[in-house]
Amino acid sequence: MNTWKNKAFIALTLYGIALGATVVAAAGPKEPVKTAPVKPEPGSPGDTLTPVDARMAYLVYKLLDKDGKIIGADLKRGAKSFYQNCRPCHGEDGMRINFNPGGQPEYIGIRARKDLPTFWYQMNFGDEDRKMEAYIDEIPVDEMRDIAAYAQTLP
Ligand code: HEC
Repeated sequence: MNTWKNKAFIALTLYGIALGATVVAAAGPKEPVKTAPVKPEPGSPGDTLTPVDARMAYLVYKLLDKDGKIIGADLKRGAKSFYQNCRPCHGEDGMRINFNPGGQPEYIGIRARKDLPTFWYQMNFGDEDRKMEAYIDEIPVDEMRDIAAYAQTLP
């Protein structure tokens, strides 16, 4: 399969979600429906992606190789940052929280390998219902890349 095309496809899908959200928001009682804007280059001045879409697009465009692994990370820094930020709840080896209590145990490492976009989303934006914090305003994006790469090495 052509990876570049896959990434472009995912990015376009994300963009479609962003557009959908814009149209839904615009369709509220006060605002008339707006026409969809033309897609700008990611990071260009005209880029109006939401923070969520911009962060997810960054992952897809810049950080993932064709096997869904993070590229260009500093694993040592990732280990240190994981230790500082994530260990208190997830444990040093990431095995304190089991995400699949009903069946075969699944820890943060497995999740990071199997489904990095979800991992990335959860780390950036958290999950209020499950008491997982959002780190987008706490940890610089390069350091998050390192944490994600390190998490992929955990059990
Ligand atoms: C204050 C405690 C706490 C800290 C600190 C914390 N987490 Fe979490 N995290 C949680 C809880 C609680 C959940 C949800 C557990 C559940 O649903 O069983 C969670 C869920 C997650 C998930 C969702 C996994 C999935 O597939 O559903 C990811 C990914 C995650 N955390 C990553 C991180 C990373 C990376 C860090 C460090 C930057 C971190 N967490 C720091 C408590 C924490």
